Amino acid sequence: MKHYSIAIDGPAASGKSTAGKGVSKVLNFTYLDTGSMYRCFTLHMLNKNMDCSSLSDAEEALKDFNMDLKGEKIFLDGTDVSERIREMDVSSNVSEACKHKAVREKMVKIQQEFAKDHDVVMDGRDISTVVLPDATLKIYQVASVKARATRRYEEMRNKGIEVSYEDIVKDIENRDRIDSTRENSPLTRSEDAILLDTSEMTIDDVINMIVSLFKMKAGENE
Ligand code: DC
Repeated sequence: MKHYSIAIDGPAASGKSTAGKGVSKVLNFTYLDTGSMYRCFTLHMLNKNMDCSSLSDAEEALKDFNMDLKGEKIFLDGTDVSERIREMDVSSNVSEACKHKAVREKMVKIQQEFAKDHDVVMDGRDISTVVLPDATLKIYQVASVKARATRRYEEMRNKGIEVSYEDIVKDIENRDRIDSTRENSPLTRSEDAILLDTSEMTIDDVINMIVSLFKMKAGENE
């Protein structure tokens, strides 16, 4: 049976996961936040006091990396780390941990297997280009640094995580730089991805837009 897939790529904190979750609910698709997988691996490395920028440490860490995805929850060695992986120490190291080829190959394989069995909405950096090059719909979602930092700041404060606005701006700019200049699958807009600037859009507008675009694309492919 053929499955549908929606790929949403874009820079850090551009609202991909909120949009992805919303779209998956409307269409009754399964949502996969691929960033959470790289974050989980980063936490695993940090727990082992490893250097996230070191290839040999990353390869060593892959050997006993035990991650489980259940619905929107993510588990590391059986512990629910869904909230923990959003904290600043993970955010500021994830771009280093995820740049290694061996790490990316492992994650991409899991993601591709997942899409074989489900109608999916997947968000990340390389979904349109590497993970699902044949996705039914490809979106490249962007927003200004100010809009992204403000959203992320409010989201973290609402969760009770203490953080400064300036640190979030620095983290976003730093991750944009590393994610788009790394050697392995850098963040780039796939030629066939639709550019969606959400700086001035509400989340409902974004969800409705993606759902409409998907229906159009799916109709074209019937
Ligand atoms: O979407 P996010 O901010 O939670 O992602 C965390 C980091 O993971 C991000 O800085 C880059 C990396 N990432 C990636 O390289 N490829 C993906 N498909 C998803 C995320």
